[in-house]
Amino acid sequence: MFNPYSLSGKTILITGASSGIGKTTAIECAKLGAQVVITGRDLTRLRETYNILEGNGHLLLQADLTNNKDIDALLIGLPQLSGLVCNAGIFNPKLYSFTSIEEAEQVFKINFFSPFDLLRRILKQKKIERNSSIVFVSSIAGNTITSLGSSVYGASKSALNGLSKALALELAPKQIRVNTVMPGMIETPILAGSSISNDELEEDRKRYPLGRYGQTQDVAYAIIYLLSNASSWVTGTNILLDGGFTLT
Ligand SMILES: NC(=O)c1ccc[n+]([C@@H]2O[C@H](COP(=O)([O-])OP(=O)(O)OC[C@H]3O[C@@H](n4cnc5c(N)ncnc54)[C@H](OP(=O)(O)O)[C@@H]3O)[C@@H](O)[C@H]2O)c1
Repeated sequence: MFNPYSLSGKTILITGASSGIGKTTAIECAKLGAQVVITGRDLTRLRETYNILEGNGHLLLQADLTNNKDIDALLIGLPQLSGLVCNAGIFNPKLYSFTSIEEAEQVFKINFFSPFDLLRRILKQKKIERNSSIVFVSSIAGNTITSLGSSVYGASKSALNGLSKALALELAPKQIRVNTVMPGMIETPILAGSSISNDELEEDRKRYPLGRYGQTQDVAYAIIYLLSNASSWVTGTNILLDGGFTLT
């Protein structure tokens, strides 16, 4: 039966696939027939993702995307791609007044410069085909809202949106589409790793008109739409995924 969202025949690299949104995206892409290449730093958790993937021909390539040598090795192992999901990122809320330039650089290094450099090198080595789709996992932070402590994180995510729009124009002649998804709060380990308390999170959940934070599948399905042929006329846009948060 015809399925416009099928990923059959596509090979998709997903960064940050050892946890959270990237892990679920890899699992759901494989269910829809994609061959996925998963990458992340933590080998044990990457293997956990790998072992859940349906189908054959998937690849696991461990890499710290802030490390040049790791990116070199990743590129050597990389097959020809028809999709790329730049998802790896960190979230360290901290007030601007207490943030050092080194801390800001650290956030930008993984959230902005690693996707910037990875894609630049993939394009240079012609490892991505015509008619491919690139998806950046951005955020509502820095783009549609802000909150105390998210100055650097938000700036790194709005930088991604700026890059995505420019790339969409630049890569259109190659029929390569470039888009972002902008999630609100999603239930992932990134929240446990931040300095936000459980009570604060519980209060914040109530501010979402649909009554909950997002689940990783809520983001994965939007990414899948952007990777699939169903979105073949969609480029240079940002899909807002926020349970209505920005309505209020
Ligand atoms: N959760 C939310 O509320 C939310 C909202 C909006 C946007 N986002 C964005 O969604 C993306 C995924 O977040 P998540 O919530 O799924 O977080 P997560 O569960 O903490 O996963 C983050 C992923 O990024 C990888 N990563 C971090 N630093 C890396 C590095 N230097 N090199 C390679 N991989 C690295 C991690 O790999 P290791 O496991 O190896 O450390 C992990 O796989 C991020 O870009 C985040 O900003 C999240």
